[in-house]
Amino acid sequence: MFRERQNPYLEGNYAPVSDQLSTEHLKVKGQIPSDLNGLLLRNGPNPMQAPNPKKHHWFMGDGMLHGLRISEGRPIWYRNQTVSANKSSPNTHVIGHAGNIYALVEAGGAPVMVDPELNSLAQAPFDGTLKRGFTAHTKHEAETGSLHAICYDFKRGYRASYLEIDTDNRVKQHHELDLPGQPMIHDCAITDQYVIVFDLPVTFSLSRMIRRYLPFAWNPKHQARIGLLNRHQPDQAIVWFEIAPCYIFHPQNAFEDERGQVILEGMRYERIFDKVKIGPFGESLPYLTRWTLDPKTGDTTEQQIDDRPAEFPRVHPDMEGKLTQYGYALGLARDPADTNFNQIIKYHRHGDRAERHTLAPSQMAGEPIFVPSAEATLEDDGYLLSFVFDQSTESSRVIILDAKDVEAEPIGEIELPQRVPFGFHGSWISNSP
Ligand SMILES: [Fe+2]
Repeated sequence: MFRERQNPYLEGNYAPVSDQLSTEHLKVKGQIPSDLNGLLLRNGPNPMQAPNPKKHHWFMGDGMLHGLRISEGRPIWYRNQTVSANKSSPNTHVIGHAGNIYALVEAGGAPVMVDPELNSLAQAPFDGTLKRGFTAHTKHEAETGSLHAICYDFKRGYRASYLEIDTDNRVKQHHELDLPGQPMIHDCAITDQYVIVFDLPVTFSLSRMIRRYLPFAWNPKHQARIGLLNRHQPDQAIVWFEIAPCYIFHPQNAFEDERGQVILEGMRYERIFDKVKIGPFGESLPYLTRWTLDPKTGDTTEQQIDDRPAEFPRVHPDMEGKLTQYGYALGLARDPADTNFNQIIKYHRHGDRAERHTLAPSQMAGEPIFVPSAEATLEDDGYLLSFVFDQSTESSRVIILDAKDVEAEPIGEIELPQRVPFGFHGSWISNSP
């Protein structure tokens, strides 16, 4: 996809920004719904020192937050600020949990707490109860308010850990997992009973580390497996299911059906980090795929759901681990001649169909974040928020789509004072308790 250029992840809208701005003067097109009251946050890598373009991987670089506060139908401010505290600069995700905000990264890096004005705080994450690094992706259990996480750190050898963080912001449960290798475990999924562990064939590579590349590589000798860890009885052995070789950065969601089978849906790559050392794209494209895992029989099935590539899947924030009717994702280009990130997708479970909001050819979106509306009664009563970059004007905006009618024009758009580089993940932190 990108082979002709030196390092596409330092060019165009992947290029970092150097200014850290704060402004209250923001132009609005259309309407901002009056029930959107809170803070939209997005994290991403933004190297502040020029990296070596031959070796720079998209996943490396200082974390930078972009934030947009909205209240009563108006934008209050936009600002961007680097994340840095306690020698950590997490660059991958930013979440709210039990009244705090955390910037997150995987592979041993510590989370950094930030205040609602985006300033990094020196306070120890999770009230000092976190003993090691954390993860970029947690799963939120709506009933209890707990966060669930699978954490790995190649410096710890063939191990990973399962952590539960309770609503007092403390580690409530910490369980060690022994693994047959050192896989990159970017995310996890939950169901009512299980936390789902991805043991996939992208593993720690000492030779890449020595040569100063991102130290993970495709490893054809590593059996791809998905594990079910009973999170109510984590001392029980993990039930493993062998699957065809692939990599999954992001599950869309998982749940248990009435027969006790686990249904997992996520973005499946046939192969990554093999020849291409600088990013996830260029070897295979990710497609929404469904795995059915039967703990009673040990059987596994795999089915591709959509034939158009997509990444950054999200669901309703209170329905992780539950049967969801809808998922939201960012469409990728199938052909290098097409614009990448040009569609925001709504997947429907019923009929396994997809609706698409296609942006203007010059525009590219980021991860769509679903925010339920104040009076929501249905799962898709709400909004999709996304940072959109326009190549023709070199400018960025936040767009607000009606999640019930994603193909329609945005309800509202907020123009931002500077370009927001493509980044990774973010959250909506509502003002309401
Ligand atoms: Fe991610």
